[in-house]
Amino acid sequence: MRRTRRRDIQPLLRENRLHKTDLVAPLFVDATIASPRPIETMPGQFRYPVDDLVDRAGRLWDAGIRLVILFGIPARKNNRASEAYAKDGIVQQAVRAVKDALPGMVVCTDVCACEYTDHGHCGIVGKTRDGVDLLNDPSLALMADIASSHAESGADIVAPSCMLDGMVQAIRAALDDGGHADVLLMSYSTKFASALYGPFRDAADSGYAFGDRTTYQIAPGNGREAFLESKLDAEEGADILMVKPAGLYLDVLASIAGLGLPVAAYQVSGEYALIKAAGERGWIDERAVAMESLTCIKRAGADLIITYFAEEAAGWLHEEQ
Ligand code: PBG
Ligand code: ZN
Repeated sequence: MRRTRRRDIQPLLRENRLHKTDLVAPLFVDATIASPRPIETMPGQFRYPVDDLVDRAGRLWDAGIRLVILFGIPARKNNRASEAYAKDGIVQQAVRAVKDALPGMVVCTDVCACEYTDHGHCGIVGKTRDGVDLLNDPSLALMADIASSHAESGADIVAPSCMLDGMVQAIRAALDDGGHADVLLMSYSTKFASALYGPFRDAADSGYAFGDRTTYQIAPGNGREAFLESKLDAEEGADILMVKPAGLYLDVLASIAGLGLPVAAYQVSGEYALIKAAGERGWIDERAVAMESLTCIKRAGADLIITYFAEEAAGWLHEEQ
């Protein structure tokens, strides 16, 4: 085998290479601040007011990133998440501003209610046999309204992340009825009930007041159920599937890539925080571990990788060329 690893031969036989266009940068836009605010649990990441978000998107563009996914922190929360579909809601403003400044940047929005509800759950809650919990069917219209309002503002891709049954079909129908047949739907189709979302919940102010998300997100040990979730979303009309988190779920990612649709992997806040924290202490080589993690996510079958390392990784790729 060592013949194929000769220094001159090795680069010719590399099976998987990361490209800048594989990388998707998550961005947080915050209606309550006037200047960028660092996110403590995610070193190097910030919440931005709209203007600064546009500047950041410009730097990402210059680094070679062509796709961003936006999360909003609204000024007001209530039990209907009404700021999530408001015409001049924070994400709606941000989409318009980014598309105005950078028409070539593909803008995706996270479609969920947990940043917009006062209780922090991902949709409408009510009494169930499990106590007060997320209600499935009553939340579908809300997701359709959020997605439609993002599309109306100019979003190219909407990404529902709430793990409701029937959400893809409901959103696709609403987009088509509203004249947005060309807006893509990237479903968070296989989303695990992971402890790795902790830093994000600080970043997006989306921690929940009661209960947990285990009645709608998948138990980490369930691979067959994880596959079925993505298969159903494919049948409902998703354009892009997603596995989240990424690094601990590469077997699931590989199986879902076999469905034939493009697949995204979300390297989540906790995965980023682990690498950053150990890197800051000098316990690991941050750059090398980050690039290894991204390369292996690609090897497992991801077409897109949503990662907080997007801008840095684009810079590292540039240096390697
Ligand atoms: C909202 C949402 C979450 C993440 C993306 N969209 C949090 C959650 O489900 O609790 C997590 C992203 C990350 O941890 O980086 N539903
Ligand atoms: Zn949510």
